[in-house]
Amino acid sequence: MPAKPRSLIVGNWKMNGLRSSLVEIAHMARGYDSKLRRACEFIVCPPATLVYFAAKEALGSHIGIGAQDCHIEASGAFTGEVSAEMLADSGATTVIVGHSERRSYSAETDGDVKSKALAALRAGLMPIICVGETNSDREGGHTLAVIKRQLSGSVPGSADSETLVVAYEPIWAIGTGLTPTLADIAEVHRFIHRELNAILGSHGAALRRVLYGGSVKPSNAREILALEHVDGALVGGASLKAEDFLAIARAAPAPH
Ligand code: PGA
Repeated sequence: MPAKPRSLIVGNWKMNGLRSSLVEIAHMARGYDSKLRRACEFIVCPPATLVYFAAKEALGSHIGIGAQDCHIEASGAFTGEVSAEMLADSGATTVIVGHSERRSYSAETDGDVKSKALAALRAGLMPIICVGETNSDREGGHTLAVIKRQLSGSVPGSADSETLVVAYEPIWAIGTGLTPTLADIAEVHRFIHRELNAILGSHGAALRRVLYGGSVKPSNAREILALEHVDGALVGGASLKAEDFLAIARAAPAPH
């Protein structure tokens, strides 16, 4: 098997967490020891209200703090919105864009997601661009066509490979306890890497990371993270508790 980049393990807290949850960040920071650091990069994305506090809590620990969405503009009359520059100023290094919950509840289009990814890059944040099919897409045999369309609409072709991450999250697997077969995950990840080569060029392809997300937990992380084209995980529910999230990170394959 060709060498893989160091796994990237990202937690998405969604709309969960109060300041009392910062104890979990402190626990994660203590658990992210030198052995774990060799195997994986570790990032937690709490709600925007906690980004600054979480970044302070994580200071000096090597765990990264990210956000879950950003506006496309840097500032202005956009009541209630938060810009990528504001998130960077609060200590975030990363931002998730185009999560399926935002695509469906906030009607975000591929074009919106691309603009958000570009805003993130402008602010010096690493965008994690989410794509994934619905259950009916999969049952209709349209998974790869849907992913191809989402990638070509959402990924800015101008980006450097190392500064951009894609997360494959089948919508029917999010929060349901269901996951695709390992063969299905491997097939989609191979396809995404190939499509990214077409969009971004092959330069830096070895450093390009495609994460799997959707019901990742300590009991299935090892087999998923070992798959050839899987470069890490985007974890929702199981990232809220430090013990579970650290267990997932410990399942990352040893670097070779
Ligand atoms: P889940 O969520 O791990 O709870 O399935 C993943 C996600 O939505 O990023």
